[in-house]
Amino acid sequence: VNTRTPLIAGNWKMNLDHLQAVAFVQKLHWTLKDAKHEDGSVEVAVFPPFTDIRSVQTLIDADKIPFALGAQDISAHDSGAYTGEVSGAFLAKLDARYVIIGHSERREYHAESDEVVAAKTKAALKHGLSPVICVGETAEDLEKFGASAVPAGQLEVALQGLPKDADIVVAYEPVWAIGSGQAATPQQAQDVCAALRTVIARVLGDDAAARTRILYGGSVKAANIASFMREPDVDGALVGGASLVVDEFAAIIRFEK
Ligand code: G3P
Repeated sequence: VNTRTPLIAGNWKMNLDHLQAVAFVQKLHWTLKDAKHEDGSVEVAVFPPFTDIRSVQTLIDADKIPFALGAQDISAHDSGAYTGEVSGAFLAKLDARYVIIGHSERREYHAESDEVVAAKTKAALKHGLSPVICVGETAEDLEKFGASAVPAGQLEVALQGLPKDADIVVAYEPVWAIGSGQAATPQQAQDVCAALRTVIARVLGDDAAARTRILYGGSVKAANIASFMREPDVDGALVGGASLVVDEFAAIIRFEK
């Protein structure tokens, strides 16, 4: 039996402006009143666009809403002449706890390499943020190499040189399952998450492997979350589309069928 607190994370991507974000968080909180996240047995995190973070932080603070806040990206640099980038120092000042790093959309549309992902992971940790390191294979990778080779390789690079007690989260998101409506099967998710845990054990040691949460992402919805959460190496979900609908996301957080 593991002691990892399940984490249900909503990656809003480029959706919801700051006014919509505030309304959404308020509604979600009301919908979840008395749900188990209130007693800490499930952790909920939302990842709004940068422009929303301050507003959501203010709301969470004022109303004592038990959601953690995260950003969708981070600069590998601390400050300086990097037009358009956002430093981990700034995110930490806004009480962000998490930052998504290496999402497949950033790898694909912004040419983020494994080395960039590794540098951003270090930047997050330097500023006290917990990186949610995203890995996953494309449909083509899956056909050529099977499911775990590519994500395991990506994770291996991201973990190089990290301290053994680094506070990280890993998200396995098969690219073919993202936004496709075609989720991996629970067994597929379990197999890759177990392989990723082995990578963590090899690079950072057994304690880190036992402690680190590994999420599944890719077409998670209320109707399939419970089947993923039953798998021993799946510690939560990184949810895209379904995290934008209050009742659906609330049902995922409750792990309803
Ligand atoms: O980061 C979460 C995401 O990529 C999964 O998206 O819409 O398939 O849940 P979705």
